[in-house]
Amino acid sequence: TNYLVSVDQFNNEDVMQFLHLAQAFKQGLTVTLNRPAFAMDLFFENSTRTHTSFEMAERRLGMQVIPFDPKTSSVTKGESLLDTLKTIQAIGVDLAVIRHPQDDYYQPLIEAGLPMALINAGDGSGQHPSQSLLDMLTIYEEFGHFDGLKIAIVGDLQHSRVARSNMELLTQLGAEVYFSGPKAWFNDDFAAYGTYAPIDDLVGQMDVMMLLRVQHERLTTTNNESFDASAYHEKYGLTNARAAKMPATSIIMHPAPVNRGVELASDLVEAPQSRIFQQMTNGMYIRMAMVAYVLVQQGILNADQLKGVQ
Ligand code: CP
Repeated sequence: TNYLVSVDQFNNEDVMQFLHLAQAFKQGLTVTLNRPAFAMDLFFENSTRTHTSFEMAERRLGMQVIPFDPKTSSVTKGESLLDTLKTIQAIGVDLAVIRHPQDDYYQPLIEAGLPMALINAGDGSGQHPSQSLLDMLTIYEEFGHFDGLKIAIVGDLQHSRVARSNMELLTQLGAEVYFSGPKAWFNDDFAAYGTYAPIDDLVGQMDVMMLLRVQHERLTTTNNESFDASAYHEKYGLTNARAAKMPATSIIMHPAPVNRGVELASDLVEAPQSRIFQQMTNGMYIRMAMVAYVLVQQGILNADQLKGVQ
């Protein structure tokens, strides 16, 4: 397929292929494209990591990147996303990477059967497949496997496309998922993948403490006005006292951006057990692997250049 939009598309073998390809790029694998190829990254929601690392990945693979700014585009005149995609395809763009606030925005684009490649860089509270794969790479680099690992996903579950993507892939790969944070943000969708427990019951037993950002931009005005950062940290956050109870071999993850002092104590971001910056580095290599995959599907990159990667 030319579309990488949801982790639902990936079986365990697919995941491992992306991880091994990302590791090969990390170890210095380079490729040459068959012809000039053009990418456009269309971000209708703000981003630092995902946007810049996709652009870095595209450039490192030899693609040329055409800028797109939603605020100055004809989307402001009412042009639909589908018409925007048809337009950029008509001018010769081979790959669109899209982040959009609407869940499943990609469905009508897929149904329209556009021949260009499409990668989802995050849809509303739906999916974030590149984040999920970079998280899998970070865990795989640390432990060498997923089977039986205990992983707590803690925080703003209800708004989190990272939680949704990761609970699916982690359980599929054999890890045990636990959830924590405000109980009101835990619902049946999550219960199907793991049990809820207070953070104090989990912190001493987990291999991975994966914190999620409180998404103020998605909280309702009423909720947001009543949000007390310090109370949240004390009740649900990874405080220094809680971190001291983590097993020596366990790690701290967070997709970032971090609300320092809220989801976790500020100095834990740079603590020896933190893999937060490694996650960002891995994000660039995972995105190289995803872009390379769709370039092979489009005949722009010969699969034999990836040979030896298993
Ligand atoms: N983790 C993540 O998606 O970060 P950005 O919103 O900065 O891309």
